Amino acid sequence: MSQFISPKNIYHGKGSLSNLEGILTDLQVQKVFLVTDPMLKELGVIDPLLEQLSNLNKKVEVVTDVVPEPPLEVGNKVVEKVRKSQADLVIGVGGGSALDLAKAAAVLAKNDGAIEDYLNLSGEKKLTNKGLPKVLIPTTAGTGAEITDIAVFSLEDTKDVITHEFLLADYAIVDPVLTYTLPPKVTAASGADALTHAIEAYTSINATPLTDTLALDAMNRIINHIRTAVWNGKDKEAREQMSLGSLIAGMSFYNAGVAGVHGLAYPLGGLFKIPHGESNAVLLPYVYDYIWPSCLKKMTNIANVFNLPTDGKNERDIALDVVQSLQKLVKDVGLPTTISEYNITAADIDRLTENGIKQTRLLKRSPKPLDREAVKEIYTNAYEGKRTNF
Ligand SMILES: [Fe+2]
Repeated sequence: MSQFISPKNIYHGKGSLSNLEGILTDLQVQKVFLVTDPMLKELGVIDPLLEQLSNLNKKVEVVTDVVPEPPLEVGNKVVEKVRKSQADLVIGVGGGSALDLAKAAAVLAKNDGAIEDYLNLSGEKKLTNKGLPKVLIPTTAGTGAEITDIAVFSLEDTKDVITHEFLLADYAIVDPVLTYTLPPKVTAASGADALTHAIEAYTSINATPLTDTLALDAMNRIINHIRTAVWNGKDKEAREQMSLGSLIAGMSFYNAGVAGVHGLAYPLGGLFKIPHGESNAVLLPYVYDYIWPSCLKKMTNIANVFNLPTDGKNERDIALDVVQSLQKLVKDVGLPTTISEYNITAADIDRLTENGIKQTRLLKRSPKPLDREAVKEIYTNAYEGKRTNF
């Protein structure tokens, strides 16, 4: 028996941003609290949205205190602003961090206390109020943040999350037009993040028939379009497919969960400030190189998505071909394939391991148990660029 949860209203496809007008009318909004990346404001990416709001005579407070992987202080500053704003709707526009901050702001606008009081690992308060309604509009194709009820924050040497159904979007709008100007590196990193969501959801111990169907569809779209989207960002079909792939991967992983890749990627972000998508991309092949013996059938299905020849091959060789294809994809889109390329040294592996094994919420969904020894082996392989031999 399984449950499947998703935001109730998801608008997607080219031009779907125009649905905002109807949403504002339905909710009888007077003032919007808009959280966005400073760069998007500077580059004019959100201008059409601001114009739409101005044409509708809505007051808008634009907040650009968004930094990648926001620390608690940044989150609390945004929460302070929303409490003073008297806004009746929160809109988050941008990458995962902008959307996460918008979710946390919307909910904490109507709950006492600070971000740290509600963190998954160390918080002691429980959210009691749903908060302000929120519309989440991604401008990257990758995080799936518009679908999930999670807001991620950076702590001193790792990350923690607020996770509660109150953080779910009332409306998600996934318009690929907003991704047309994404630079290649961001397209690559966010696309690799989306691919990791799909693959980890697919092999999660909490996977269901619904999440499997979505994960395979998302993998198909992403694997077949990520290279074009990176190499030729103007290709509208590739952008549309990446946008959909990310959305669908989000729906899958929100229900099945992500696992070892994300768990071990968190310390790379926390300790070495490696962006989320890149942390996942660099570890993805090494984690699957370790866990494939526990998900052989699914590795064969992933091989089919990659169009790899499987006739006459045994499951071990097919799984290893998939690992190789994952690494090739990461390399093709121009991302590092070893953690040593980020100035991480052999002496850092113990520290990474200590942090990595704390991510029990994620590691426990791995089809193959990931204990301290396994985690250390994966980080060592990712450092040396070598494979585990079974
Ligand atoms: Fe992710």
